[in-house]
Amino acid sequence: MNVGERRLSDRAASTSVPRKGRSCLWRVAYAACFWLGCSSGVPPAAPPAPDAQASVALPPERPARAFAAGMHGAVTSAEARASAVGESVLKRGGNAVDAAIAVAFALGVTYPSAANVGGGGFMLVRFPDGRSSTIDYREVAPGASHRDMFLDAKGEVTEAGQVGPLAAGIPGVVAGLAMAHQRWGSLPWSELLAPAIALARDGVRLDEFQVRDLGHGAGLMHIYANDLRKLPSDDAEARALRAALTSTLATFEKAPGTSHAVGDVWRQPELAATLDAIAAGGARAFYTGPLAQRMADGVRAMGGIWTAKDLADYRAVEREPVRFMYHGHDIISMPPPSSGGIVLAQILTAADRLNMRQLDYDSPERIHLYLEALRRIFAERNRWVGDPDFISIPRAELLDPERTARRVADIDPERATPSLEIRGSGAVAEPRHTTHFSIVDARGMAVANTFTLNGDFGALVQIPGTGVTLNNEMDDFAAKPGAANMAGLVQGSPNAIEPGKRMASSMSPTIVVRDGQLRAVLGTPGGPTITTTVAQLLMQIVDHGKSLEDAVAAPRIHHQWLPDESFYEAGVPESTLAALRSKGHRMTVEPGIGHANCIERDPASGELRAVADVRRGGGGAVAY
Ligand code: DON
Repeated sequence: MNVGERRLSDRAASTSVPRKGRSCLWRVAYAACFWLGCSSGVPPAAPPAPDAQASVALPPERPARAFAAGMHGAVTSAEARASAVGESVLKRGGNAVDAAIAVAFALGVTYPSAANVGGGGFMLVRFPDGRSSTIDYREVAPGASHRDMFLDAKGEVTEAGQVGPLAAGIPGVVAGLAMAHQRWGSLPWSELLAPAIALARDGVRLDEFQVRDLGHGAGLMHIYANDLRKLPSDDAEARALRAALTSTLATFEKAPGTSHAVGDVWRQPELAATLDAIAAGGARAFYTGPLAQRMADGVRAMGGIWTAKDLADYRAVEREPVRFMYHGHDIISMPPPSSGGIVLAQILTAADRLNMRQLDYDSPERIHLYLEALRRIFAERNRWVGDPDFISIPRAELLDPERTARRVADIDPERATPSLEIRGSGAVAEPRHTTHFSIVDARGMAVANTFTLNGDFGALVQIPGTGVTLNNEMDDFAAKPGAANMAGLVQGSPNAIEPGKRMASSMSPTIVVRDGQLRAVLGTPGGPTITTTVAQLLMQIVDHGKSLEDAVAAPRIHHQWLPDESFYEAGVPESTLAALRSKGHRMTVEPGIGHANCIERDPASGELRAVADVRRGGGGAVAY
């Protein structure tokens, strides 16, 4: 029995709350920490510290902006400093892929809850000649993983897939970025890592968003540390895990139990050393040799199952994007193991067949049809979603518009269908931390990139001495077909755990083309709300003629079949909510759905308009 399992059975014994309830308690703790700030809360602004960031590799600091327009290039990400790094790469003559690599590594330093090199994700690229491709750098299950690894003796799902070392898949970020560089990059690799290394080594001057992010993470880690105190003190794995958590907390806190303040300069020397090794030795330095051995040993010491071979065997994969037409727009998005592209195609087909564009975007009549379509589309999502290298996915059938039309043909315009009357096998809901950025360069090359540790700060622990945060992506597998995961996702056996397999995803980096010209670069975090957020942006831009800025600002609404609830953001008028309730919808307010950092290109002038979505705080758009 491993550390995670013992810890979880301890928890089970010490509480009468059923598993799902305990998960919800975690979720409430996560959310409360995020919105209110954990530890000592968000401190008042302090005077800026001396400039420790002066470095040739780094652009000067500038205030974050939510909107920027320019004719030559644009970058928008969840963190302003990382966006500025992307802009400086473009201005040095790098292409959009070069800038994406630099932004991704920089975000790993400046936005640690979502973007560490210990995670994975997807990159979609469109080239100036109109071709496009994707890189799947999703994590894979370690070689010693097995289908029932998160089930206890009674067959109940434990929480070892959510926190601690067993929760971590073999990370893909470094391999994915290296593959992008090798195929399409133009500047030297080490130059692209230099800004991230400088930020990690010399420090990041913290703004309010980052202080809240770090405080939130530390709060979660203290909750986890309290849980770990219940483990036997003479157990070597438990001791190693506790020590790893203590050093992780030392990375994210100013002093034990004390949060950083606005204006503090925050340094990550261990991460800087890891990035240095990657800069000098490429992906090989991460996946083989002393660093890989250290990571595998570190994870196993604390009760995990990574091996050096797992790391050496990891491969990013180039995949053909999903492409479909929507009202004269060519939509390009992510294929399996992400459900994103296929679900997006189904939502937009439903919108077309139900003539949603004839109705006012904010009208309860249109929202009702939209929610009813989502309920049906998500009901079947989990029956097929999984790793295409392990299971057979009927991609052409799922993308057939006639099939989607049949699926939504029984929608009653007056009444919500109870979800349990709809055949399907899954429910989806996810925690909050993933991040998306968009980049366009002067030649029109465009990158949409979404990557993640899954939950906030992933598995809540770093590998000692490396600055590498463990993801908790193993929770995206179906630990037990038919049972809910961390936040309610019930998936089928196609997504069961198998060694070397990629877990299903909802991440949906998307590019839109009109008349052969780039029109928009879209994406967002938010688990299953990712795909519905991208669909809502597309419907607003394509069907309702809205600007991207207005589309990003509009309140979002989401349904995912189960739970049988519609989630909406503040801003939906009371009268609309009342009309939807009268049709039978259960409407539940949700703070901050998504964080959509997107770019549109004005078809008439060619101007690039970058929008940073500031509903979660943070965000920086640049253009020139
Ligand atoms: O791959 C997925 O779909 C999830 N791991 C994404 C999680 C997520 O977006 C959470 N953040 N907002």
